[in-house]
Amino acid sequence: MIKNKVGVAVAGLGFIGRQTHVPAFKKIPNAELIAVIDIIEDLAKEVASEHNIKYYLDYKEALRNPDIDAIVVTTPTQFHFNMVSEALANSKHVFCEIPLTQDVNESKQLIEIANESKVILMPDLTFRFTPNYAKAKELIDEFVIGKPISLNFCELIPTKDLATQWPSNSWAWNTKKSSGYPDFTLSILSLDLVRWLFDSEIIDAKWMSNYVPLPVLNNYTVYNTAVIIRLSNNAIGILHYSASILTQEGTARLEIFGNNTSVLRATWNNHISLVDEKFRTEWTFKMRGTKVWGHYQIDSHFIDCILQGKKPLATVEDAIKAQIIAEKINQ
Ligand SMILES: NC(=O)c1ccc[n+]([C@@H]2O[C@H](COP(=O)([O-])OP(=O)(O)OC[C@H]3O[C@@H](n4cnc5c(N)ncnc54)[C@H](O)[C@@H]3O)[C@@H](O)[C@H]2O)c1
Repeated sequence: MIKNKVGVAVAGLGFIGRQTHVPAFKKIPNAELIAVIDIIEDLAKEVASEHNIKYYLDYKEALRNPDIDAIVVTTPTQFHFNMVSEALANSKHVFCEIPLTQDVNESKQLIEIANESKVILMPDLTFRFTPNYAKAKELIDEFVIGKPISLNFCELIPTKDLATQWPSNSWAWNTKKSSGYPDFTLSILSLDLVRWLFDSEIIDAKWMSNYVPLPVLNNYTVYNTAVIIRLSNNAIGILHYSASILTQEGTARLEIFGNNTSVLRATWNNHISLVDEKFRTEWTFKMRGTKVWGHYQIDSHFIDCILQGKKPLATVEDAIKAQIIAEKINQ
């Protein structure tokens, strides 16, 4: 019998699993959130009771549930390879957080396992679905700025938010577990975004960073990292990542300059303007909840790909290409 709903379980109930994917899958009409999985029993129980669903502490037991068609892997990065490969080998479709694996060669192995099992494996390259970035892609493809020739991207995360989410002793700062500091992890999203918007590969990247303990925050160490890139269409760009700022100064800002002198300027997740010689055209998106950064949209796309047998818009190959550029930070 052909199913018209995909049974989903979310594994890993930290910030990204609990706050974004659980509520998104709960609302997607052709998905049914069946279960959550976490090794912390109180947490798993609490989230399961919030949504009136099952919970598992044992991942393998969840994989044996035939009602679960797809697994969403939102555990710390060090667990992705084993969890994803087991799920794929059990013929479950998989949506996985980034970095997909600690070593890109493992991601290549996952492609093979997914192909053998004839299931979909999709990385969470969310920025392709963020409302104002998706609009930027549409406008670039309509040649409103002519040919894109350069870009400026700036992602400023408030120090206090980062310290709460990923304290100094968290896996995210332990490179044996994460393969890189938070700037490495988070930059994969924007590097993928740039490749996608410019429809080009990043062929050169020069990174510079400093990691500075802040006395005002018990010497919590923050990153200030910048990369200058060249793309295969000869465009160049600067991307700046920092977590050394006040809460009210947090922002994401992307400017793309075209060869007809127009510029696209996207701020946060919900606003974009097109400025040319005569006009300024503005778009503001009033999405709420998990639609704000595109989590609902990318999760829906994953479900549509399963039900309609479509190739995902964001592939494992895309995740690998962005990760290879991000890894140069560590060099
Ligand atoms: N938090 C973000 O803003 C963000 C952004 C981009 C990517 N990511 C990626 O999302 C993933 C998760 O990040 P996070 O910040 O939510 O982590 P987190 O540390 O906040 O939460 C991870 C959760 O996974 C659970 N867990 C650990 N091992 C498990 C196992 N074997 N089985 C089941 N559950 C297990 C933990 O108990 C915890 O609840 C990482 O790969 C990260 O790189 C996170």
